[in-house]
Amino acid sequence: MTQRVAGKSVLITGASRGIGAETAVQLGAAGAMVAVNYREKKRRADGVVRAIEKSGGRALAIGADVTDSAAIDAMLASVAAEFGALDVLVLNASGGLELGADAGYAMSINRDAQLAMARAAAEHMEPGSRIVFLTSHQAHFHGRKPVPVEYEPIAESKRAGEDALRGMIPELDSRGIELVVVSGDMIEGTIVVTLLERRNPDAVAARTAQGALPTVAEFAAAVVDASVMPIEKSGHTVYVGGADYLEQ
Ligand SMILES: NC(=O)c1ccc[n+]([C@@H]2O[C@H](COP(=O)([O-])OP(=O)(O)OC[C@H]3O[C@@H](n4cnc5c(N)ncnc54)[C@H](OP(=O)(O)O)[C@@H]3O)[C@@H](O)[C@H]2O)c1
Repeated sequence: MTQRVAGKSVLITGASRGIGAETAVQLGAAGAMVAVNYREKKRRADGVVRAIEKSGGRALAIGADVTDSAAIDAMLASVAAEFGALDVLVLNASGGLELGADAGYAMSINRDAQLAMARAAAEHMEPGSRIVFLTSHQAHFHGRKPVPVEYEPIAESKRAGEDALRGMIPELDSRGIELVVVSGDMIEGTIVVTLLERRNPDAVAARTAQGALPTVAEFAAAVVDASVMPIEKSGHTVYVGGADYLEQ
């Protein structure tokens, strides 16, 4: 794995905390050059960069709100200036559960921003590059499996984001860029699950009743794999945890 990752230029959106931060650290430790995107938590992103540098890796923190197309362009220009071409884009940043977020925000960040980010990044990517989209089982199986009511706007918008990215596959194919989707069950100890548990403890209890939830480290390791492992076909989906979701 380390051999495949070493020397790759990777941009991870929303890598100042949680799964994005852990994925950045794991990729950096394996020798990737990592651009750590954050929206407002610069100090946290700087901490992720320091952790990568301590492990001998190379990293750069870049502030950019992915719902802002000018910020996306500036971020991609910084990555190009620092690392050259972009080999892997990890679409991790997500939102909608924030208190006070307006009704359209979930669709704006989870669909529109993902598509805008992928389109703009593709201009900087050579054949053989990859885009990895992170999602949750609740979103991936939206419409087929029940979703806690509090999570419905996120599930709907993230599914719309996945569909929009899958709709880009012909264009990505023509550029030699692959898409991989990584779908995870609720991940133990994350802020999203803590927020959900506060609002709807039964929804989280229903998942833990199925067995231990995957950890952040396990989910991040799957994202690292998905960033470089050979796949049969663009659009390949990797599933992490939640065996019951996968039963037909
Ligand atoms: N948590 C779970 O149980 C779970 C399960 C399956 C899949 N996933 C997926 O894994 C991914 C990460 O989840 P997480 O729980 O680690 O998320 P999180 O803790 O909510 O972290 C979100 C990250 O995204 C950044 N961010 C938010 N809005 C942004 C914006 N507009 N522009 C740029 N960055 C922005 C935040 O930066 P700031 O701190 O600077 O605001 C933060 O670094 C998501 O795609 C999620 O759907 C999560």
